[in-house]
Amino acid sequence: MSRRILVTSALPYANGAIHLGHLVEYIQTDIWVRFQKMRGHQCWYVCADDTHGTPIMLRAEKEGIKPEDLIARVHTEHSRDFAGFHVAFDNYHSTHSDETRHYAEDIYGKLKAAGLIEVRAIEQHYDPVKQMFLPDRFIKGECPKCGAADQYGDSCEACGAAYAPTELKNPRSAVSGAVPELRSSDHYFFKLSDPRCQEFLRRATREVCKAQPEAVNKLQEWLGAPGENKLTDWDISRDAPYFGFEIPGAPGKYFYVWLDAPIGYMGSFRNLCAKKGIDFDDFWGKDSTAELYHFVGKDILYFHALFWPAELEHAGYRIPSGVFAHGFLTVDGAKMSKSRGTFITAESYLKEGLNPEWLRYYFAAKLNGTMEDIDLNLEDFVARVNSDLVGKYINIASRCAGFISKRFDGKLAAVGSNSIIEEMAAAAEPVAQCFEARDFARAVREIMALADKANAYIATAKPWEIAKQEGQDAALHQVCSEGLAMFRLLTIYLAPVLPQLAQSAARFLGVERFTWADAAQPLPAGHRISDYEHLMQRVDTKQIDALVAANRESLAPAADAHSQQRHAQHQQQAEDKVQAKSAWEPFISIDDFSKVDLRIARIANAEHVEGAEKLLKLTLDLGTETRTVFAGIKSAYDPATLVGRLTVMVANLAPRKMKFGLSEGMVLAASDPDGKSTGLFLLSPDSGAQPGMRVK
Ligand code: 2FM
Ligand code: ZN
Repeated sequence: MSRRILVTSALPYANGAIHLGHLVEYIQTDIWVRFQKMRGHQCWYVCADDTHGTPIMLRAEKEGIKPEDLIARVHTEHSRDFAGFHVAFDNYHSTHSDETRHYAEDIYGKLKAAGLIEVRAIEQHYDPVKQMFLPDRFIKGECPKCGAADQYGDSCEACGAAYAPTELKNPRSAVSGAVPELRSSDHYFFKLSDPRCQEFLRRATREVCKAQPEAVNKLQEWLGAPGENKLTDWDISRDAPYFGFEIPGAPGKYFYVWLDAPIGYMGSFRNLCAKKGIDFDDFWGKDSTAELYHFVGKDILYFHALFWPAELEHAGYRIPSGVFAHGFLTVDGAKMSKSRGTFITAESYLKEGLNPEWLRYYFAAKLNGTMEDIDLNLEDFVARVNSDLVGKYINIASRCAGFISKRFDGKLAAVGSNSIIEEMAAAAEPVAQCFEARDFARAVREIMALADKANAYIATAKPWEIAKQEGQDAALHQVCSEGLAMFRLLTIYLAPVLPQLAQSAARFLGVERFTWADAAQPLPAGHRISDYEHLMQRVDTKQIDALVAANRESLAPAADAHSQQRHAQHQQQAEDKVQAKSAWEPFISIDDFSKVDLRIARIANAEHVEGAEKLLKLTLDLGTETRTVFAGIKSAYDPATLVGRLTVMVANLAPRKMKFGLSEGMVLAASDPDGKSTGLFLLSPDSGAQPGMRVK
């Protein structure tokens, strides 16, 4: 049965460039949406720029332009970058729009009528020179706990303390440098502490997050134990000067950017409805039976799973069917960094001539539908794209297509009973289930396992040899047609991830486009295909080097913190987080750390590995067992000097099949963080440590 689905990705702020961290989410959502469309469902994907707030107002001022001009320019840049990565929104709108204003006023009015808006005076820092109230992140001073200088108004980067801005010692405005004054002003609050909200949130929001148990745990933590009512009222207004929508009936008061941001989803969809003649209420009405999903980063789960459903519920709209949170992106195991050149913008990636589908594939191979962070390991990126996409998948077509064109006038033979094709066609449902559950990593694994089987079939059948034999035309025709049938099935399954490639492959296979149902229906005998043109190039490591160099050189550190920072969590005012926090973030918890089982190991044997440039094969004695580990330390150690010494190993690392054998762990060594070759230094414990001891 055809479903009606509305999907959103978080709205990016209109004051910074799209980077690879952003793209995790847009690519994830786009894959899911494309999959739903291929399944024949009615699925709309909307997004918009998040245009309001103090940082955007100040940024425009700094550039000497109107905020409207800034957001118009950024809208063009964002649209270009998304299109460049084949992120195909059905509508990309702006929160600075009539539609968003309409729903912001409407929702506010309904919450007010329901008695859920309260006005209270609060004291805040005021910049007397700039004549504006200062968001926490625009106040700097000394930490009230440790005395560190130059700390923000909400938390200390030196000692990690969180505090109220009024506690900061010797505060200064980060805008004008003036000493701020404390001033009182009326603010509008959404009464989340109201029993109706508390009751609703406990009942409904778990349902909204049920696809992600770790998100449900977070909600539990935020809501507290029953009766605890940890959620406090939410301040939804800001005083002029502010770039946003003025609150009706409250001159000089504006809706806080986080109030109208999610309403931007409605605004964008409304705008789409007008263009396409869709019934808005069918999707947003209280009793809508359509599905509504928000894809978001884990840092903004709080807004989407608590505030937003509570607003919708009490304003008489439907609530989301699901909020899907993903983790952050790290590059080579660390937070993206401009000094390392790993804060990579979407624009630079495309400008350097890298294929956007490489990244789509790599992200898909890593995204499993949980809130875990994902790592873009640049070496692994090259290896995977080249070995999986080009080496396994594209290779099938390139090995079979030429014969069909040259020897059989481009016409396919009937595909008889072939157990591999049957198995591949039967995978349509299991692979679909992986996409549906957003476990793209598993989908990719299953698809690549099928590609391995297809390659093994062709390698055994050897069409290139059959081609040389007299009187074997029928056999050649058969094998190559079967190979292309396999390629076609793989293309259908990969199409949500690789839309452009799927389009080129469709053209080559002489069809208009693919739907998921096509997997059940092979191409008929006599179907004519086009001449094969190479479908995808390999990644060259030099391109990656150039990309990193381009990002290292081209970006000033000042812009770094400003544009990369996604807004942090809890009840902190998201718009105020315009600066990066500690360079060590994202932090891990002690629980994360204790997942790593580090053990003392004695190097029982060490030897060279034939054909390996960097590796030594180590036999590690853990006291109760021995392990084989291939360690990339050849450049630094003569194996003979290692035998007998103690070191530290990760004992619970999943075994990894390498070219030279199975590696059952990892030894720890120190090296320069930038990977410059200043040496490698294996860790050793103090004397007395014994093999098998736990390192904590
Ligand atoms: O964190 C951010 O980047 C916000 N601009 C996301 C807003 S999502 C939605 F609520 F609009
Ligand atoms: Zn401190």
